[in-house]
Amino acid sequence: MTTSQAGSVKLANGSSIPAIGLGTWQAPPSEVEGAVATALREGYRHIDCALIYKNEAEVGEGIRQSGIPREEIFITSKLWNSFHPNAVESLNRSLKDLGTDYLDLYLVHWPVRLVPNESSELLPVNADGTRAIDRDWDMGKTWAQMEDILASGKVKAIGVCNWSIPYLEQLKKGWRSKPLVNQVELHPHLPQHELVEWCKKEGILVEAYSPLGGAGGPILSDPDVVSIAEKHNVSPANVLISYHVNQGVVPLVKSTSPSRLKSNLQTVSLDESDMKKLNRLSSQPGKAKRYNTPLFGWDLGFDDWYGPPKKEH
Ligand code: A2P
Repeated sequence: MTTSQAGSVKLANGSSIPAIGLGTWQAPPSEVEGAVATALREGYRHIDCALIYKNEAEVGEGIRQSGIPREEIFITSKLWNSFHPNAVESLNRSLKDLGTDYLDLYLVHWPVRLVPNESSELLPVNADGTRAIDRDWDMGKTWAQMEDILASGKVKAIGVCNWSIPYLEQLKKGWRSKPLVNQVELHPHLPQHELVEWCKKEGILVEAYSPLGGAGGPILSDPDVVSIAEKHNVSPANVLISYHVNQGVVPLVKSTSPSRLKSNLQTVSLDESDMKKLNRLSSQPGKAKRYNTPLFGWDLGFDDWYGPPKKEH
């Protein structure tokens, strides 16, 4: 049975978050305004944004264009890596660009501090071309600012992205408010079972970015995904989105195509054998894959790193 009402799930603070979110990463500024307006008219009520996506002003325009009241929409944004010592500045930029005075969720984008220099404010590099990373930065200091931001009322919930178990364990030693969300790359080629389990035990909601594998949707053609889609008479995207919704994980699906935006809201009840197949896909030879491998991302405690070789960039 398919449904176009995926509903919502609860955060540990008792508030609700719509079960499917619209991703805006790599949505070109020229297209994202229309995509956001269309998505909201089609029924989306959850938009995932970030300062580094460089399209928040257009997302804000799309929200206004849709005519849907702000309070009916769940908006997330993220503290960018070059703002760890000054989280409020990153937040204020996002609020201004999105044209809102509060966020429903604010996330630390990566547990990595980049040091801005003359090469770039957002993606600085050293003279030798390596990323300008401050490896000694204490993420506890970032988190303390996030907790202050929560107390200020400018955001309703705080969380993290791309945090592995060792990083979460470290953060836990000092947190006053726990992160309510951990947003990570997640799909059947990178199911991260242990991390999902850890977060569930702690009451941290997991959000899945790149649920289709990112640009071009490379997992859509996986033969096992295709066969499950045929069995249920839905598209492979519906299977990959439902894989998360069925287990209480919130997928953030990016599309700028009106027809795909609409069809991506359809979910299907997957049975135990489907879920087993999808959960075991990554153990097939050559299947395990991380599709997002930023230059600063290799050394973050993930034990299932399938990206470029672990070396300094
Ligand atoms: P488009 O914006 O042209 O629809 P992810 O959500 O994993 O980041 O995947 C996004 C990619 O998958 C984008 O290239 C997007 O392109 C494409 N995509 C989104 N929905 C579908 C769908 N239902 N069928 C095929 N491709 C899709």
